[in-house]
Amino acid sequence: MIDEATLQTALSNPQNLGEMPDADAVGTVGSPDCGDMVRMWLKYKEEGGRRVIDKATFQSFGCQTAIAVASLATQMIRGKTREEALQMGAEELSAPLGPLPPMKMHCGQMVEGALKAALEAEQATAEMSASKPQTSSSHTLADALSAAGKSAGGIKIILEPPTSA
Ligand code: FES
Repeated sequence: MIDEATLQTALSNPQNLGEMPDADAVGTVGSPDCGDMVRMWLKYKEEGGRRVIDKATFQSFGCQTAIAVASLATQMIRGKTREEALQMGAEELSAPLGPLPPMKMHCGQMVEGALKAALEAEQATAEMSASKPQTSSSHTLADALSAAGKSAGGIKIILEPPTSA
């Protein structure tokens, strides 16, 4: 049985609702069961030498359970690393609501899916810029130069730090 009080609290004051324009990653998942959709945005920060989720927001075009689970999830994953957040399943994310009835299981799974899509989207972006810096995804001229150096047979380009004379 869903904990109605927790559900109502989450619905009357959903946390972290809305788009995040400066997000590092975004993930969207639709449910084939009901046609609903959840989108989640993530922003990371460095903390104590670890890269952790600074903030997460969501938009839900879905039922009340999906909104409540998404609201809880965005609060739960703050301060977690990408790897830690990837471990969190629908059951854990919806735990404050109590066990979801079978017909509402997919609502929690949809939130889990959106979270994983955002976590993986961020990974894909990171991998792309690490493995193909010579393409237009180069962040800086230095990236492009060092990539060109690598592919041209090991020419090493050392960038001098600016002198502070
Ligand atoms: Fe489809 Fe909840 S997300 S009914």
